[in-house]
Amino acid sequence: MPVYSVSHVENVRICVIMVGLPARGKSLIAQKIVRYLLWLSIKAKCFNVGSYRRQLAGDTAITAEFFNPDNRDGWSVRVEAVNRATEDMMRWFAEENGVVGIIDATNLTKQRRSDLLKLCRENLIEPIFLESWCDDQDLILQNIADVKTTSPDYVDVDPAVATDDFLSRISQYERNYQTLNVADDEDLTFIKLVNVGSQIIVNRIESYLESRIVYYVMNLHIKPRSIWLLRHGESEYNLTGQIGGDSNLSERGWRYAKKLPEIVLKSLGEEHEHTNLTVWTSTLKRTQQTASFLPYQKKLEWKALDELDAGECDGMTYEEIEQQFPEDFKARDDNKYEYRYRGGESYRDIVIRLEPIIMELERQENILIITHQAVLRCLYAYFMNVPQEESPWMSIPLHTLIKLEPRAYLTLVSRIKADIPAVSTYKEKGTSQLGELASEVSNSRDLILNSLQASV
Ligand code: ATP
Ligand code: F6P
Repeated sequence: MPVYSVSHVENVRICVIMVGLPARGKSLIAQKIVRYLLWLSIKAKCFNVGSYRRQLAGDTAITAEFFNPDNRDGWSVRVEAVNRATEDMMRWFAEENGVVGIIDATNLTKQRRSDLLKLCRENLIEPIFLESWCDDQDLILQNIADVKTTSPDYVDVDPAVATDDFLSRISQYERNYQTLNVADDEDLTFIKLVNVGSQIIVNRIESYLESRIVYYVMNLHIKPRSIWLLRHGESEYNLTGQIGGDSNLSERGWRYAKKLPEIVLKSLGEEHEHTNLTVWTSTLKRTQQTASFLPYQKKLEWKALDELDAGECDGMTYEEIEQQFPEDFKARDDNKYEYRYRGGESYRDIVIRLEPIIMELERQENILIITHQAVLRCLYAYFMNVPQEESPWMSIPLHTLIKLEPRAYLTLVSRIKADIPAVSTYKEKGTSQLGELASEVSNSRDLILNSLQASV
C-alpha cells in the first residue's frame, strides 16, 4: 500500500512568508524547512527575493543607500524583485503542484504583508508569517561575519567595510520595520521567534501541516555541536551476508567496539568534553554491543533506529532473495526507495518513523548515533540534502565513523575509518554480490560539503 504524505491527505498549499531585518537567520530557517519537507516527500521550495534583486540590479555594486526607503530607484527594483519571486512561486504551485512555498524576504511593512496575504487568499493558499526578531547585537555581528561579508553583494570588498555597510543597510530597513504582534495581527497565522527561540509566539495555527512546520521551527537552535553517525561493528550476519536479524557482533566487530572510545575521543578534538555526549542506539544487540565500551553516562535506545524490516526476507542473503523472489529483487533494484519488503518496510517507511528522531536531533547538542546501514543512509540524507533516488544507494561502510558539524549553510563531514577490517555489505544495482563501490571515499578527513544553499 502506498504511504501518502500529510499534504496529500489534507490537500493544503501553504505559503510561508518570512519576516525580519537582515541577518536574522531567515534564509537559513527557510532552507532548513525546505530540506526537512523534501526529506518527508512534501514538495517545498524557497524563493529568495535577494537573488531576484541581484538579477534585476545587475552587477552594480549595491551599497546601503540602495535600501534607503526614500531611494525611489532602489525601492522600485525591490518591489519588482518581490513581485517576480511571488509570480514564480504561484506558477510553481499551479504547474508543479507545489505544496509549501517560502517567500524569503524581509517583508517588514504591514503593507507588503497585506499584499502577500491578499495574493495567497485569492489563490486559495494558506499564508503563515514566520518572523525572526533579534536584538542581540553580538549575535547579529557574528551572523554578519559568518555569512554576509562573503555574500555576492560584497565580492572583493574588505570584510570591515562590508560589515559597516551591512550595519547601515540594517538601519535603513529599521526605519519602516513593523514587527508582528498579537494585538495588531490577531487574525494572521504567524510564528515569531524572539532571540533564537528564547521566546516563541504562535498565533492561529490551523492545519496539521502548518503545525508540523511550526513544531520543527520551534526545535531549531544554533549552538555549535557535532553529530556522529556510525553503524554497529561487523556482525555474525554480516559475515554470512544475511540481512536483518538480531545477531551478535563478530570477533572483529567486538574489536571495533573496544576501539571505539579511542576513535571517538580522537574525533572530538580538544574543544569538547568527553562527558558532554549522548549515545543513541537501536534496540538491536549489535548496536548495543558496539556502544558497550563507550564511557558516556547517557545512553538511549530507540526502536525507531532499528534496521529496515526485511519482512519475509529477514535472515536471507541477497542471492537467496534473487533466487526465491526474482520479481521482488528486480522491483527493489528498480525503485529501492519505494520498494517495501513483503511484510516489511521500504526506505520511505524508515523516513516516516525517523521523523521524531530528526525533531529530537534538532533540539539536542552532541549526539552519537549507532545504528544500521539503511537507517544511517536516511539520517545522512536529511543532513546532507541527498535526493531520495540516491540515498538508498549510498555507500556507508562498517567500521567507519562519520562526524557532522553543522555550520551556517555548510556541514563539515569527516569520515574516520578504523584500522579493523570488516566485510562489505554494499550491494550494487543489478547484482546480488557484495562489494564496496570503487569510488568509495574511505578515509577522508575534513571533507566539506554543501548541505544548504547560501543564497543570502
Ligand atoms: P538577509 O535578510 O540579509 O537575507 P537573513 O535574515 O536571511 O538575512 P541569514 O542569511 O539566514 O539571515 O543568516 C544566517 C545566520 O543567522 C547564521 O549565522 C545563523 O546562525 C543565524 N541564525 C539562525 N537562526 C537565527 C535566529 N532565529 N535568530 C538570529 N540569528 C539566527
Ligand atoms: O546487510 C546489512 C543490512 O543492515 C541489512 O540488515 C539490511 O537489510 C540492509 O543492510 C539494508 O541495506 P540495503 O537497503 O542496501 O539492502
